[in-house]
Amino acid sequence: MASNLKILLRSRPTGAPAAGNFQLESGPVPVPAAGQLLLRTLFLSLDPYMRGRMSDAPSYAAPVAVGEVMGGGTIARVETSLHPGFREGDLVLAYGGWQSYALSDGKGLTRLDPALDPPSLALGVLGMPGFTAYMGLLEIGQPKAGETVVVAAASGAVGSVVGQIARLKGCRVAGIAGGPRKCGYVVDELGFDTCVDHRGGDLPQRLARACPDGIDVYFENVGGAVFDAVLPLLNVRARIPVCGLIAHYNDTGLPPGPDRLGLLQRAILTKRLRMQGFIIFDDFGPRFGEFQQAMGDWVRAGKIKYREDVVEGLENAPAAFIGLLKGDNFGKLVVRVSQ
Ligand SMILES: NC(=O)c1ccc[n+]([C@@H]2O[C@H](COP(=O)([O-])OP(=O)(O)OC[C@H]3O[C@@H](n4cnc5c(N)ncnc54)[C@H](OP(=O)(O)O)[C@@H]3O)[C@@H](O)[C@H]2O)c1
Repeated sequence: MASNLKILLRSRPTGAPAAGNFQLESGPVPVPAAGQLLLRTLFLSLDPYMRGRMSDAPSYAAPVAVGEVMGGGTIARVETSLHPGFREGDLVLAYGGWQSYALSDGKGLTRLDPALDPPSLALGVLGMPGFTAYMGLLEIGQPKAGETVVVAAASGAVGSVVGQIARLKGCRVAGIAGGPRKCGYVVDELGFDTCVDHRGGDLPQRLARACPDGIDVYFENVGGAVFDAVLPLLNVRARIPVCGLIAHYNDTGLPPGPDRLGLLQRAILTKRLRMQGFIIFDDFGPRFGEFQQAMGDWVRAGKIKYREDVVEGLENAPAAFIGLLKGDNFGKLVVRVSQ
């Protein structure tokens, strides 16, 4: 008999999440009512934003309630359809959460091409992270040929795409990544011009050497010590799409050390910097079709490469998610929930 394995938020973390903040629970497979679908999860996406949903601090989206199933994007197969718009066997992109089965009323589901191989690409390079890279870089970063673009978390889901698009636009691209393996991949496989290991010490000096002409676009995925190293290297009229601040997601208070807000504001003023945050679907949702077309073409032509980090089994999702916030993943992190 099939059962529905679910991972619930057991308690809100203070600082880094731990295994005890999650609870595994097994229950009956839900039964769809008229107008509903039963979805069987094939892949669950694990993404840094989920850390924010575990907290009840004010944010752009409501938190997961304690005792509720953790939310998350999924690729699912329609097991049973009592909905006129979907058939049994359809492959869909859903927001089914951390569970092996989910009910849906069809709203927000996207039918996927059954030939998409692997279907998890719709959670990565062809989905939300790829879209984030595309819009953040091209619309806010406005890169021009010959300029220097820097991106951190450069081997990850968003950063890997940012750097490759910047190369396609004729920019010089420096990645920042954790460790020699990730840096080697970023240069050798993804074609970045250079990559600096942020765990290797002396980041400000090594980044300065990697960017002899300064930085025109800094795609911010990280914050923290990486931003401290970037700030003095920014050129006049540099653009900074503020996409994520993963170095701060586990913070419980303001970072230690002197207040550097004045330093930042002076740099913004004198260098006429443009920093702009964005939340991908809130700000650019209607342009998803345009992105799919462009990215699909680039991926098919081999111009944009991708790497997935596939974790087997839903029960391993909490550990994988905890690792994501520490850089344990190598590529877009997804969980294979069922075949
Ligand atoms: N604004 C939006 O709409 C939007 C949408 C999607 C994603 N995002 C943001 O984009 C960023 C990247 O997301 P992703 O899905 O592509 O994740 P990812 O890069 O696949 O994985 C996260 C990576 O962040 C790096 N990292 C973690 N802690 C760090 C630290 N203290 N300093 C430097 N690097 C650190 C690690 O890579 P290394 O080992 O290389 O350090 C880790 O592998 C996140 O901040 C995320 O919240 C924003």
